[in-house]
Amino acid sequence: MFTTWNRRASQVQTDMGNGGKERVFLWRTPSPATWPVGEDFKETKEIVCRMANSLLEGNCHVKVLEAGCGSASHVRFPSAVHVVGIDISKEQLEKNTEVQEKILGDIQEYVLSKEQFDVAVCWMVLEHLPKPEDALLNMFQSLKPGGLLVVAIPNLVSFKGVITKLTPFWFHVLFYKFMKYTSRPFPTYLRAAIVPKRMMRLAEDCGFSVVCCRFAEGAATKKLRARYWLVGTVFATVNSFVHLVSLGRVQSLLLDNCFLILRKNAKAIS
Ligand SMILES: C[S@@+](CC[C@H](N)C(=O)[O-])C[C@H]1O[C@@H](n2cnc3c(N)ncnc32)[C@H](O)[C@@H]1O
Repeated sequence: MFTTWNRRASQVQTDMGNGGKERVFLWRTPSPATWPVGEDFKETKEIVCRMANSLLEGNCHVKVLEAGCGSASHVRFPSAVHVVGIDISKEQLEKNTEVQEKILGDIQEYVLSKEQFDVAVCWMVLEHLPKPEDALLNMFQSLKPGGLLVVAIPNLVSFKGVITKLTPFWFHVLFYKFMKYTSRPFPTYLRAAIVPKRMMRLAEDCGFSVVCCRFAEGAATKKLRARYWLVGTVFATVNSFVHLVSLGRVQSLLLDNCFLILRKNAKAIS
């Protein structure tokens, strides 16, 4: 398997080793024909999980870090022998029955031992941190050479990203009630450092390669658009306008989730 990173075309090409080529577009898409509007969230999540597992093939003693593990894990590694979960919430940690070792701590500050994990998963956590870069650097140094960081984050450059960033926490609570979610939202910072382009640049500067970058529309936006004609029409109109004035450089604002796989190079900075 190999991955090539073409800066000019802003694409990552990943050869999955089975003859099939995964072509993953970053912040720029070359033509509307390849514009991945409404790419399915669940399907994208599965593709990313499969890709992460295939990258670890041959490694039968996988040590996993779940950063901000919460009460459940989203990425399964059948070859995992030991899963360490770190979370700032005691309540969330207590509910988690999937990790073997629990650390009550702040992923931005907790000193993780150097080069101890084969893979770190940070699933919908970075948006809740005031200093996401500190958390990223902490996870970077905790990975072995060749180790993977699997990240899921809301895409700040999307309708949901912008609305969440610009509205207060009480509005998020109301929205959860309105959508009849049983859980409560976590306070959100959505710092600019988690814009996918920026995260990838930081990773590359620290000696990581971008193996995969995918975007997908989440269930909440899809549901809102389907349920309320006006919301769908406003989103579609703004989306088309932004696409037009940016000459296709800004991708669909409906793609409100981003999935990344970053791999630590042999000579990465620790
Ligand atoms: C939206 S939940 C995601 C949980 C889990 N990763 C998932 O996808 O279901 C965010 C989690 O990040 C945790 N968290 C927030 N700030 C944190 C920090 N500074 N260090 C570690 N965990 C943190 C929260 O307690 C919460 O469990």
